[in-house]
Amino acid sequence: MGKPLKSVFKKEHRDDVSNPSTNPAFSSVAEIFLSRRRLLQLGAVAGAAAAFPLLIKPEQAFAAVATPSPLAKAVSLGFTSIAVSTEDSVRVPEGYLARPFYRWGDATGIQGNMPAFKLDASNTAEEQAVQAGMHHDGMAWFSLPQNQDNPTHGLLAMNHEYIDNGMLFPDGAANWNLEKARKGQNAMGVSVIEVKKGDSGWEVVRPSGYARRITVNTPMQLTGPARHQPLMKTAADPQGEQVLGTMQNCANGHTPWGTYLTCEENWSDIFVKKGEHNALEKRYGISDSDESYRWNEVDDRFNVDKTPNEPNRFGWVVEIDPYNPTSTPRKHTALGRFKHEGAAVTLAADGRAVVYMGDDQKFEYIYKFISENKYDPANRDANMRLLETGTLYVARFNDDGSGEWLPLIYGQNGLDAHKGFESQGDLLIKTRLAADAVGATKMDRPEWIAVDPHSSGSVYCTLTNNSDRGKEGKAAPDAANPRANNQYGHIMHWLEAGNDPAAQGFAWDILVLAGRAQSDDPRAKGTMKGAEFGSPDGLSFDHQGVLWIQTDVSSSTINKKAYEGMGNNQMVATIPGTNDYRRFLTGPRGCEITGIAFTPDNRTLFINIQHPGEGGDDITDPANPRAVSNWPDANPNGRPRASTVVITKADGGIIGS
Ligand code: FEO
Ligand code: CA
Ligand code: CA
Ligand code: CA
Repeated sequence: MGKPLKSVFKKEHRDDVSNPSTNPAFSSVAEIFLSRRRLLQLGAVAGAAAAFPLLIKPEQAFAAVATPSPLAKAVSLGFTSIAVSTEDSVRVPEGYLARPFYRWGDATGIQGNMPAFKLDASNTAEEQAVQAGMHHDGMAWFSLPQNQDNPTHGLLAMNHEYIDNGMLFPDGAANWNLEKARKGQNAMGVSVIEVKKGDSGWEVVRPSGYARRITVNTPMQLTGPARHQPLMKTAADPQGEQVLGTMQNCANGHTPWGTYLTCEENWSDIFVKKGEHNALEKRYGISDSDESYRWNEVDDRFNVDKTPNEPNRFGWVVEIDPYNPTSTPRKHTALGRFKHEGAAVTLAADGRAVVYMGDDQKFEYIYKFISENKYDPANRDANMRLLETGTLYVARFNDDGSGEWLPLIYGQNGLDAHKGFESQGDLLIKTRLAADAVGATKMDRPEWIAVDPHSSGSVYCTLTNNSDRGKEGKAAPDAANPRANNQYGHIMHWLEAGNDPAAQGFAWDILVLAGRAQSDDPRAKGTMKGAEFGSPDGLSFDHQGVLWIQTDVSSSTINKKAYEGMGNNQMVATIPGTNDYRRFLTGPRGCEITGIAFTPDNRTLFINIQHPGEGGDDITDPANPRAVSNWPDANPNGRPRASTVVITKADGGIIGS
């Protein structure tokens, strides 16, 4: 092959920077959080609202609780924090049960097509297309029957974010060919599975009329302003309206009308261009081959020198109807094109849909979409079109604790031909460039966003880390990203004006700086009480207002370097305002904890274990797949497998209580 081994595999996450813009760095007041953090210590959102004098009048607070939780807000956590762990297992507090199901390679449950997993990874591409994909990530619950809150029977829709060519084949990437690329393509995308709680616990229903795999080759429709744009047209799709597939599906969202949102994150790693990169390709970090999956070698769609517009058809949010297995997924261009982490959906005071989204790369931005039309509980067909038209905004965090949502509208604020934008559709394909032009705030890798189910204007976002913050030639620390060389990350909170998600302004604060609870070094000091953690990524509220945080410490750093002694990746819980953090779960070796879904009664929790066994270089030697982990099978001839894990309380109680 002539390449060093490392170059033929996919690294876990691109660590580079694609944002050369010179957006204003606000004052470099690295310690400003210390005066702000107290606001979040005041207690519930009412306290926080009162403490934000800039925008929130007391009578406006709680104006909009558009999607009230069915469960009362919890006031305390009911479990004892567990210790850190380096064991090759999933650990949970006493009184809880955790069991893997739906592992990579398990049959999805499609009638008449349920091939068994082969321990040596010799399943074909065709078989992989009807089995669980690799590297499970974001996930959501949908009750059955539709429109009922059934806690014991439903659908799980989940992402399979990326692949590991060293683990996916008996011989890794040797003897590379189209069949191998197709197997990789079929190991990515989305699964929809039917799950049911029976006398012996939760099981995947097989076969199921709902079971579905969506892959890198599943046809999907483009919607919104970028549909039919010149930059979206290819030889295979001269109208620019139908795309094959979705990939690098990271986190997710789900809508009040019962659909799943899957988000395309590190898609730019897969497209390879050997020739000179234009400004758009540079801004989105199109690969020059070293980080490639090698699909470009056998499938021209991923060879940008040959199919220059194909990358423009990725980087979007895709809506899937899990209740209809023959429905065509839709890529909603109105929500912008970037490296989408997740898509947290809530409703504005007037019923418009609001979607919060992070762009996960160093120095990228936080976005918000507001639909033009309003949610109608009686008209699902109309709701299905809500994400097709609306306005995209990007966040600016001022260092006085205020913030603005800056609209990205063609023809406004200089977003016109002078800046290289031809139309609204063209602007959305170039979302990052438009956000640069209006002066958005460069963040420390925005990951998941979570909306408080008891107060829909109160929103949280994980900023996982950014080792380049403050480096020469890079953005300096600012109030919202206060630490140079931010190795541990932090969690941001903002409160929309009037507690309305559709507001144009907000007040913000930092919920917690992650890191070492015992450290005296302000760059390393974690501000939590209780369980310390770093690199927060997955973030979700449960139905009783407990905030769950899942960590993604890089495989090269787990329990090493700055993270020495912090153990495997983990999940911790807190109730915002208490500063009490408790460790609920620790994962097996080499994994990330991600994906989170609660049943409507909060008595079952599903999470995902992603990439168990991933080594320090983010690659697996095909000759030694069990070098780091052999979870969950522990079969001497097997290999580690990403898996959904179902968690219940032995006494049937509410999770976290
Ligand atoms: Fe796929 Fe940003 O994590
Ligand atoms: Ca993530
Ligand atoms: Ca991450
Ligand atoms: Ca990961």
